[in-house]
Amino acid sequence: MIDREAAVRLDAADPLRPYRDRFRLPPGCIYLDGNSLGALPATTSARLTRVVEEEWGQHLIRSWNDHDWIAAPARIGAKIARLIGATSKEVIVADSTSANLFKLIVAALRARPDRRAIVTEAGNFPTDLYVTQSAADLIGAELRTVSTEHVLDAISEDVALVVLTHVHYKTAARLDMRRITQAAHAKGALILWDLSHSAGAVELDLNGAAVDLAVGCGYKYLNGGPGAPSFLYIAERHQPVMHSPVAGWMGHRDPFAFRDQYVPAEGVDRFLCGTPPLLSLLSLEAGLDVLADADMGMIEGKARMMGDFFIAAVEQSCSGFGLELASCRDSSARGSHVSFAHPQAYAIMQALIRRNVIGDFRAPDIARFGLTPLYLGFEDLWNAVEILRDVLHRETWRSETQETRARVT
Ligand SMILES: Cc1ncc(COP(=O)(O)O)c(C=O)c1O
Repeated sequence: MIDREAAVRLDAADPLRPYRDRFRLPPGCIYLDGNSLGALPATTSARLTRVVEEEWGQHLIRSWNDHDWIAAPARIGAKIARLIGATSKEVIVADSTSANLFKLIVAALRARPDRRAIVTEAGNFPTDLYVTQSAADLIGAELRTVSTEHVLDAISEDVALVVLTHVHYKTAARLDMRRITQAAHAKGALILWDLSHSAGAVELDLNGAAVDLAVGCGYKYLNGGPGAPSFLYIAERHQPVMHSPVAGWMGHRDPFAFRDQYVPAEGVDRFLCGTPPLLSLLSLEAGLDVLADADMGMIEGKARMMGDFFIAAVEQSCSGFGLELASCRDSSARGSHVSFAHPQAYAIMQALIRRNVIGDFRAPDIARFGLTPLYLGFEDLWNAVEILRDVLHRETWRSETQETRARVT
C-alpha cells in the first residue's frame, strides 16, 4: 500500500531534489512529457538572449571565431559523450536524428560492400523504419524487419548492419545493448543504436559495450528545446572508413580553403554537413550544462524508482477502469517512461491535460507518461495518479472530442 506520505518521504530523501530549481515549469503543471520535449532549463533564456543580443546582434559574423561558434558541434558533442560512455572524439552534434540515421546507415553499408542486408525491429520508431528503408533502397540492400524476439536469429552472415532503438518509444522496453551488440559482432555485422529515449535518462556505456554507431535526440532528456539538433556517435575504430553520403562543406578537412575537391575531415567531424543552427545548438548546450554535474547512475536509479512507484500507484488507485500496463514491470528492462494501454487513451490523455497533467498519446491506444528525475518528484506522481483516478471515475474523458485529434498527439 502506498500513499501520499510515502511519496513525501521519498522526496525528502531524494538527492536529486535540488535539480528541480534548475528548471522553469508553469505553476500547477505536472509535466509528464519530458521524454518528448524536455522542460526549459532556468538558464536557457538568458543564454539565448545573450547569444541573440550580444553574440549575434553586436559581434555579428565575428562570433564564429570570437565566441567559438565554429567549435560548438564538437564541444557540445563532448558534453554528450560523457553521458553515453563515449570519448569526446566520437560524438558530434548535427542535423536531426532522422538525417543522422540516414548518414550513418548509408556510410555503414558502404563500409561493408560484401554484405547487403540490414536488420531492424518491427514497431521501431517510424523514422527509423522509413529512413532505414530509404537508405536500403538507395544502396540496393535488403531490409529485414522482424519482431524483437527474432532480431538475433535474423542476423546472418550477410547482414551489414543492425538498426535498433535502445529504449522503445511506446513501451519503454530497454534492450540489452551489450548482449545484442556482441551477437551482431559475432556474425560480423555492425550495430547502430538509436538512443533518443536513453541519452540523459539511463546509464550508458557505448565504449564498454563496443557499440559501433549511435544517434539520439537533443530535445528529450537532454533538454535542448524544441527541434534541438541531434547527436551522432561513431566508434573511433570505424571513423577512417566511414564517409557521410551528404558531404557538406562543414565536414571538409579545411572548409575555409574553399577547394573544389572534397577532402573529409579527420574523425567524426566529417559527418557535419552544413552551417549548424547556432541558436538551437547553444540552447542544447544550456540543457546539457544542467546535466554537467549530474550522476547518470543516480538519474537512472530515481527513474526506476519513479516508474515502480507510478505503476504501483496507478494499479492501486485506478484498477477496474481498463488501463493495462504496456511497459515492463522489471525496472532494469525499462527506460524512463511508463505507458498504459486503454481503448480511450486519447480522450483520457486530453482530459488529463485539461487538468494540467501533461503526458501524451501514441496511436492506437497508448497513454504515455515520461518520468524525468531531474524535475519531477514522487508527490507529483501521486498527485497525477489522483487526477487520473478522478478522470476515470467521473468519466470526464467522455466530453473530449474523439473524432478530430490534434495534429500532434
Ligand atoms: C526513437 C526515436 N528516434 C527518432 C525520433 C525523432 O527523430 P527526429 O528528431 O529526426 O524527428 C524520435 C522522436 O520521438 C524517437 O522517439
